Amino acid sequence: MSSPPGKKGSPPRGSPPGDDYAAGTTGGHQHYLIADSGDSSTEDDFWDSDTGSLMTDTTSLREQIYAQIVENGRRYNANAAGQSEYQFPVDEMEQDRLDLMHHIFKLLLHGELYISPIGENPQRILDIGTGTGIWAIEVADLFPSASVVGTDLAPIQPTWVPPNLEFQIDDCEGEWTWGKDAFDFIHIRYLRAAISDWPRLFEQAYNSLKPGGYFEFQDPDLLFLTDDGSLPEDAALTQYINYFHKACEKRGKHTLGQPQTVADELRKIGYDDVKVVCQKCPQNPWPKNQHMKTLGRYSLLNLLDGLEGFAMKLFTGALGWKKDEVDVFVMRLKQEALNKNYHMYFNYYFVSGRKPLSAV
Ligand SMILES: C[S@@+](CC[C@H](N)C(=O)[O-])C[C@H]1O[C@@H](n2cnc3c(N)ncnc32)[C@H](O)[C@@H]1O
Repeated sequence: MSSPPGKKGSPPRGSPPGDDYAAGTTGGHQHYLIADSGDSSTEDDFWDSDTGSLMTDTTSLREQIYAQIVENGRRYNANAAGQSEYQFPVDEMEQDRLDLMHHIFKLLLHGELYISPIGENPQRILDIGTGTGIWAIEVADLFPSASVVGTDLAPIQPTWVPPNLEFQIDDCEGEWTWGKDAFDFIHIRYLRAAISDWPRLFEQAYNSLKPGGYFEFQDPDLLFLTDDGSLPEDAALTQYINYFHKACEKRGKHTLGQPQTVADELRKIGYDDVKVVCQKCPQNPWPKNQHMKTLGRYSLLNLLDGLEGFAMKLFTGALGWKKDEVDVFVMRLKQEALNKNYHMYFNYYFVSGRKPLSAV
């Protein structure tokens, strides 16, 4: 686990890697080491063409943290082997989309950040896979006397944050080193297609919670549902969802049906006071109800901004599609997304569970 050295040296949001980045090219992918000003790193410092490895003996942790890949026009986080475990971009466009999604999650909870009854005075809070850190920042502001930690594989968090918040680079699928009884509240949102072993994650969270502490999971079910059958079965959007789940499965991420099973998995591990809130979220502004229409507007924007990133790496990598095929398919998806005759929605799941007070 290591703290990112802040956003200094990371690519400014919105700008493609420029002179500040050392770049190497292999197999059509570009590998970037994002260097601080004054850093004299060169391609040789981080890309070993003999071993095909991103790391060399002298590669520092900082270099490992900031290694990134540019592939088919999008920027991804890279691990020590120069690969991206996470199938979605972490570039400026995606960061903006994550902040939009934060707004959608909050709208679904009518302005709240969570459903767990954590009381007025939580002391230690963990946000796993924090992304741009927007949830963690708001929680830290809400509880100034709490200490909040946000973790992520990618160093895409801002440096100007509340003094009671810190970000750490950490793989939540690795062995947790937080210790026993470390947190009052652990939160994970929108990591569905990123996790290979959910029960293990739930168990590690259980072990790191204080007795009486809460764990909370938030995620959509990623199925275009309708109550009136208005989305045709042969629609590109329906096909897309099938391809998406198939590709995730190929990458070892089990996404189908997952949010519906979270409550049972939490109970099995020993959580009590398990609560599920399921909210409908229209995917374009088809509803008449104003709140639902607003949700639909934001969700449509999320689709228009997000579809390329959801599909590009997954479909080219796991399904063997060409970039052009993804581009054409995404165009069809966007056209359909705009069609208000399709009364489609996602179900968003908010699942909360408590480590029993009697737990040892
Ligand atoms: C879709 S974003 C969600 C971000 C944030 N939770 C939110 O709701 O705004 C998923 C984030 O999880 C991070 N991630 C993926 N796999 C991870 C892992 N194994 N450990 C920690 N973070 C991970 C990604 O880098 C990305 O920032």
